[in-house]
Amino acid sequence: MRDLDGPFTAPLDHGLPLAEQLRQRIRAAIESGQLQPGARLPSWRDLAVQLGIARGTVREAYERLVADQLIVASGAAGTHVADTAPPRPRARQIVVPPLAEFDFGYSTAPLPFQVGVPAQDAFPAKLWARISTAVARSDAFAPTTYADPCGEPALRAQIAAYLAVARGLHCVPEQVLVTNGFRGGLALALTTLGVAGRTAWTEDPGFPRTRLGLVAAGLTPVAIDVDDEGIDVEQGIARAPDAAVAVVTPGQQAPLGVALSSLRRQGLLRWARRSGAWVIEDDYLSELQLDGRAAPALASSDRHGRVLHVGTFSKTLSPALGIGFLVAPPALVTRAAHVARCLLPAPARATQLAVAELMEGGHYLRHLRRMKRLYRTRRDAILTRLDGGRAAGLAVLWDLPPGADDRAIATAARERGIAPVPLSLFYTRGARPGLLLGVSTVPEERLEDACAALLRSSMRPRC
Ligand SMILES: Cc1ncc(COP(=O)(O)O)c(C=O)c1O
Repeated sequence: MRDLDGPFTAPLDHGLPLAEQLRQRIRAAIESGQLQPGARLPSWRDLAVQLGIARGTVREAYERLVADQLIVASGAAGTHVADTAPPRPRARQIVVPPLAEFDFGYSTAPLPFQVGVPAQDAFPAKLWARISTAVARSDAFAPTTYADPCGEPALRAQIAAYLAVARGLHCVPEQVLVTNGFRGGLALALTTLGVAGRTAWTEDPGFPRTRLGLVAAGLTPVAIDVDDEGIDVEQGIARAPDAAVAVVTPGQQAPLGVALSSLRRQGLLRWARRSGAWVIEDDYLSELQLDGRAAPALASSDRHGRVLHVGTFSKTLSPALGIGFLVAPPALVTRAAHVARCLLPAPARATQLAVAELMEGGHYLRHLRRMKRLYRTRRDAILTRLDGGRAAGLAVLWDLPPGADDRAIATAARERGIAPVPLSLFYTRGARPGLLLGVSTVPEERLEDACAALLRSSMRPRC
């Protein structure tokens, strides 16, 4: 007797007829809550073809479930789980813990002071909707084969042109591999380099997700102090001279906002060349330098092909798009393309084409210009209300008195509907208490309330 048992289904009595096996499978799914009241079941024709059994067998199973009052057949409207079916919690619930105080839920509206997300109200929604609809339509009628795993040629060419003009970085489009944001770029860089099992310099304070990402990729992070010139290269050489990589944010250090000094840049590149190490440049914020001249990309002064430059559209457009890029040094392009082909292909083609269109039409740079002006205004409004606050990238850094518990304050703030991030989260040692306040997420009309909530959470005298 054939049976319907599979790896994801409850064990069935293999001695039973097929229709009964199917009835029991669906019944178990309804009773466990895996199929919720109102959920649509496939037509018996479709399901029969999918399972490779006779239509009459599926129809018989459905009829028994109707008789059990577990499902309702409504003719052309289809077959649904009955609303009267006992709603049950899902049998197995797998809870994935969030990244401490850093995750604020996915696909939700950002809270005031939330860092890392652009201003929702400044996103060119109409323009984006128009461009992406047109792109999706022509893409739907395009030939269906695998998309280029290294990214759409149109977007790679736009990114290369943009980098030459805006970041002083000269590369050919073949060096640009489109990735799923910075995280995809980091994974592609590390896999291309084959450095699992080795050590990596990370900035201290530094972006926690980078540190955790390195660990997830099998590397051992070695925390190197950051001062007002950026990462302390001499300390890195003393602490981990044979590290395989250094992951740095030279443009605007995360979270302190300082640019890597030119002496340190030279030192870092010299160390990489002499020791055969690699530098992964996280250029996540460079387009959004709010004051003065943007620091050049480290990769623009890399004469020996040691820097893997990673950029992202998460801060400039939206993290929900999931688009970023890796610029591989020429000697690594073939290997990176191989990794992209086999393991880490570029994200959805239609989204890439829409971003390319946005760049080609000049809309992207215009959008950046508007965003910078808006963020300066928002940042300055916060700074005038905050004693001791200082600008750091797209955030205001607010030091708390020694001994203050910034994590407890951030948790209390969350209960008041605002989302500062504790500075101590960025440190692996010698943490200074403080709060990182994103400026992009505080529109004028929420400023007073957000500051009042911050003041109450931290019980500081003035905000
Ligand atoms: C230091 C740093 N790098 C990169 C990113 C962006 O990562 P992704 O492009 O994966 O969204 C962020 C986002 O907050 C960041 O803070």
